[in-house]
Amino acid sequence: MRSVIVNRTQRAGTAVALLLASACSAAPANGTPLPSGTAQSAMVVSASAVASQAGRDVLAAGGNAVDAAIATGFALAVTYPVAGNIGGGGFMVIRFPDGRATAIDFREMAPRAATPEMFTDATGAYSSTIHHDSHKSVGVPGTVAGFAMAHKKYGKAEWTRLVDPAVRLASDGIDVTAGFAGALSWGMSEELKKYPATVSAYTKDGTPYVVGERIRQPDLARSLSRIRDQGQDGFYRGETARLVAEEMRRGGGLITEDDMARYEAKERAPIRGTYRGYEVISMPPPSSGGVALVEMLNILEGYDLAAANHNSPRYVHLVTEAMRRAFLDRARYMGDPDFTKPPIERLTSKAYAAELRKTILDDRASPSAPAQVAQRYESNQTTHYSVVDANGMAVSVTYTLENAFGLGAVVPGAGFLLNNEMGDFNGKPGVTDSTGLIGTDANLARPGKRMLSSMTPTILAKDGKLVAVIGSPGGRTIINTVLQVVLNVIDSRMPIQEAVNARRFHHQWLPDWVFGEKDAFPPATVASLEAMGYRVRLGGDQGTAHSIFVDARTGARIGAPDPRDADAGAAGY
Ligand code: DON
Repeated sequence: MRSVIVNRTQRAGTAVALLLASACSAAPANGTPLPSGTAQSAMVVSASAVASQAGRDVLAAGGNAVDAAIATGFALAVTYPVAGNIGGGGFMVIRFPDGRATAIDFREMAPRAATPEMFTDATGAYSSTIHHDSHKSVGVPGTVAGFAMAHKKYGKAEWTRLVDPAVRLASDGIDVTAGFAGALSWGMSEELKKYPATVSAYTKDGTPYVVGERIRQPDLARSLSRIRDQGQDGFYRGETARLVAEEMRRGGGLITEDDMARYEAKERAPIRGTYRGYEVISMPPPSSGGVALVEMLNILEGYDLAAANHNSPRYVHLVTEAMRRAFLDRARYMGDPDFTKPPIERLTSKAYAAELRKTILDDRASPSAPAQVAQRYESNQTTHYSVVDANGMAVSVTYTLENAFGLGAVVPGAGFLLNNEMGDFNGKPGVTDSTGLIGTDANLARPGKRMLSSMTPTILAKDGKLVAVIGSPGGRTIINTVLQVVLNVIDSRMPIQEAVNARRFHHQWLPDWVFGEKDAFPPATVASLEAMGYRVRLGGDQGTAHSIFVDARTGARIGAPDPRDADAGAAGY
């Protein structure tokens, strides 16, 4: 069996793959050597090369893509604590080899004591601190239940085999990498140091670990062992649930042991759309991602984007106007479908897109009206990973703690970080203002409700065959990052690594700015956009879209770790 491990540093630098464990031919049946990052049978791409390897080992031992996604997800909780988690939540989209698809929703849920007004202070004023940076900002974690549901319904390996690599990484320790050290030194200079259990988990007596040192996470290893040995109950009942509830009481949070025991993952029908003959499969509400993605693609299908060069003024204009319209609808309608009914069919229909196209001017920016609904710009603090197995089963997972390291609080004795996902609920009923607050009902906190998300784990297929697995972190920018990788592949015909690497931009209706990555557009393009009425700001990175592309001719799985993530890697065979 031929192993392929590509670390993103190698890819970005020398573009040379590290090929390990060659037990049979390094070339596919037709004799053509495989390009770097390509595997003939199966592939995992994630933010951590070590976690990708954990998934790849499960695949090589006969597990399917769901099994590998679970093993990678647990391993990321150890190797990528900035967003990999057992204390957060997310979404998994699965496409089976026969073309059927499903989605597992393991978004965090509001505890039973949650209310729409819970993010206001004693005077009744909205408090950003309570909303985003307090124990009240913690939702009941969903990751473990989501993985358990996916395994029970669609996995085939032994559960213990999927959790055990993470247990070992936590107990034996991992070598601190550049990305890990960089994230920790950033985190420890800020809010993480408020929490003694966090300081003890991620520093040596207060000094953050540096590259090359070994970090062991014994409390996390014990929590993971309980999950390995007792399944979902090993997290939601007993010791771990008790430790979470204790930390909540200590910090003024709302989650009780009863809330933990009541958490349930849900299986949902994915959003399906088409774009120029490709099938698009993505996450339904409580994520806004799939609906907004399909709405934008439907709008853009009416234009010849291939003729407008990638990131040219006309290209940016058309794509931005699609983004503006989808984000307005997102703010208007989206929320947990168990509590509110977003008009999904209409928003994802070709007829609605045709109506919206009529409102797009050929050479002018449309206005966004601040009197309606405003939203904030966000950065990359979630993580996405992609898996394809030897049978063509594909899994697209995006999961998160919300901010980098979530709330920043490690649960004492349990060794994992708590999310601050409740910040994705609207802040205060009826309060919508130009600073970015939204007060609409669809996404107010209520007991047992899931907060609206932008995570967009996506799968593309064509003529019944798998084409690509795509997704990204980045708050609301996620939807636009996924959109642009899809456009790069389909309209600009870029190879997958180029499609992932290409500079991206973001518009979210309000604030009414086009945010481009550094060097996204040359000065002449910025000038043309400004002449059309756009305000443009360039800087930073947008998302990390760890993706896989399947070559229709050879069936090869081409892994594309995003070079924006320091430790990312592809592992396949
Ligand atoms: O679910 C969501 O859309 C967000 N909680 C994701 C957060 C994220 O990507 C980090 N960025 N702020």
